[in-house]
Amino acid sequence: MKKLFFYLSCVLSTIFIGCFPSKKATNTSSEVSLNWVDQNLQSSAQQYKVLMKQVHEGMMPETFVDGKLKTCEPSNWIAGFYPGNLIFLFETTGDSSFYKEALPKITLMEREQYNKGTHDLGFMMYCSYGNLNKISPEEKYKEILLNSARSLSTRFNPKVGCIRSWGNSNDTTEFKVIIDNMMNLELLMWAAKETGDNNFSHIAITHANTTMENHFRPDNSSYHVVIYNPKTGEVIKKVTAQGAANSSAWARGQSWGLYGYTMMYRETKDKKYLEQAHKIAEFILNNPHLPADKIPYWDYDAPGIPNAKRDASSAAIMASALIELSKYSNASLSKKYLNTASVILHSLSSPQYRAAYGKEGGFLLKHSVGNMNANADVDVPLPYADYYYLEALMRYKSILQ
Ligand code: GLY
Repeated sequence: MKKLFFYLSCVLSTIFIGCFPSKKATNTSSEVSLNWVDQNLQSSAQQYKVLMKQVHEGMMPETFVDGKLKTCEPSNWIAGFYPGNLIFLFETTGDSSFYKEALPKITLMEREQYNKGTHDLGFMMYCSYGNLNKISPEEKYKEILLNSARSLSTRFNPKVGCIRSWGNSNDTTEFKVIIDNMMNLELLMWAAKETGDNNFSHIAITHANTTMENHFRPDNSSYHVVIYNPKTGEVIKKVTAQGAANSSAWARGQSWGLYGYTMMYRETKDKKYLEQAHKIAEFILNNPHLPADKIPYWDYDAPGIPNAKRDASSAAIMASALIELSKYSNASLSKKYLNTASVILHSLSSPQYRAAYGKEGGFLLKHSVGNMNANADVDVPLPYADYYYLEALMRYKSILQ
């Protein structure tokens, strides 16, 4: 009976939410109700069933362009987000078809636990196996996650005080660290708690401290890439790869930093990380180029503003981070962060950014920018935009309950 009721409510949500987004879903007021969050989670679940039907065995969805699903290998940095989304949807709806779809996809990533050629193992393994292990802990998953943390740790250079983001571990001339790397530290903090081996947390904390010292400008924006001398640890130069200019504030990078330092505060309770997160939030929220709907341009200094492309992924990451940061803030900041997250979630849930039921191949959000400079995945849906959108909705739900 329960199952039947659940099924009927999904069908009705599909009809009423998927086809005709509710008035509440389109308003930009800062009001978020439990009902509104639930409606968006339910319609997300229905939409992902469309995506699930198209993802062939052995591949992961990357985006949807020219009416076609584009897929990527399980070794791609974005591979963990699709199974992560399925786990979120299982968690929020209880519908086991998401869990059943997630398992073989996650298994495709098993061998990545030994991949020492990327810093993205945190994204890849913690968003997939990490979320799976949270809802159904198993020794096997733990071992895979621990091996992943071990592999990631091999990229740490004590002289630099960072994990190498890009490049070969044997490169003795350049050691590149990107702000995105903050996101991979959560896996190490988990591994430290799980094993009691402080080497994992030492690496994460040292990386966060070095990044705090060298990646940030006086206005609290961050460079995308800092290049170190791997032999001496000296900074060689500070540049961009995905931003508009070396001196610009690449939007997703600012969101990664905000999320990363908020997470490091949660894990360590070290006040300096909390202060850093507040400073980043201040830069973003006071930025004259942040539009009223709070969906950033792909770079806060992008050429052509106000006609530059928006990046929904940056907004989704920011919303999720601000909801968490609100929990560690005084009443007035907490209200400000939640209001901003709420405006973002309303914007992302409006027809401007949320794909209509059955459209965009079944992805949730339109209008993200993968890499503008490489002309790769520009103004398209992306699984990590969906991931942080779902996470933000679920985080908001948990503070409303
Ligand atoms: N490296 C992750 C990103 O493009 O944001």
